[in-house]
Amino acid sequence: MVNKINLGILVSGSGTNLQSIIDNCKSDRIDALVKVVISDSPEAFAIERAKKNNIDTVTVVRSEFDSRKSFEKKIVEILQSHKVELVCLAGFMRIIGKTLLGAYPNRIINIHPALLPSFPGLDGQKQAYDYGVKIAGCTMHFVDDKVDHGPIICQSSVPVMEDDTPQTLKDRILEEEHRIYPQAIQLYAEGKLKIKNRRVYILNESDKG
Ligand code: GRF
Repeated sequence: MVNKINLGILVSGSGTNLQSIIDNCKSDRIDALVKVVISDSPEAFAIERAKKNNIDTVTVVRSEFDSRKSFEKKIVEILQSHKVELVCLAGFMRIIGKTLLGAYPNRIINIHPALLPSFPGLDGQKQAYDYGVKIAGCTMHFVDDKVDHGPIICQSSVPVMEDDTPQTLKDRILEEEHRIYPQAIQLYAEGKLKIKNRRVYILNESDKG
């Protein structure tokens, strides 16, 4: 029996990446289980997706806490009570602070809809479109104390077509996000990711020792 890792997914919105992770877990394409979905917004459609799959959901609203520290402390409590081993940000629209990073060092990953280090921050796809790049894409990375900055796990490129609009480009990038997010989780689950300085090495079975 394969050892599955426990995931905690943090969301704020529609949750299509969450859906892709759930689907990949259910079909055993990745050795992981979604233990809990935490949203900072009661309106996030992602919550419905989780409920439909009988996954525990908790809404933690930032304005109900007097500091980022106490807000994150609550999140950490929920993650720990679900025995979460890897935290996945999937459209979570908040900067991660010391409390969460300290509880899960090098165990928080994120997807960004641009080829980092280009176009960090909001609307990476639109930033890339407006800049006129020919190759756009998305990036899976570990989370550190700066926005969209941590060590890169994998990336996927998406060519920009002459007739693209910001929306068509965004849609094609999203398809790639749905492909590389589960891939990164599986590499983590297999213990194949090794971070040295800011480079992530993907180990072979024989390298793992
Ligand atoms: C994605 O484009 C992701 O790259 C960005 O936020 C969006 C979330 O979309 N971080 P969804 O909620 O997974 O549909």
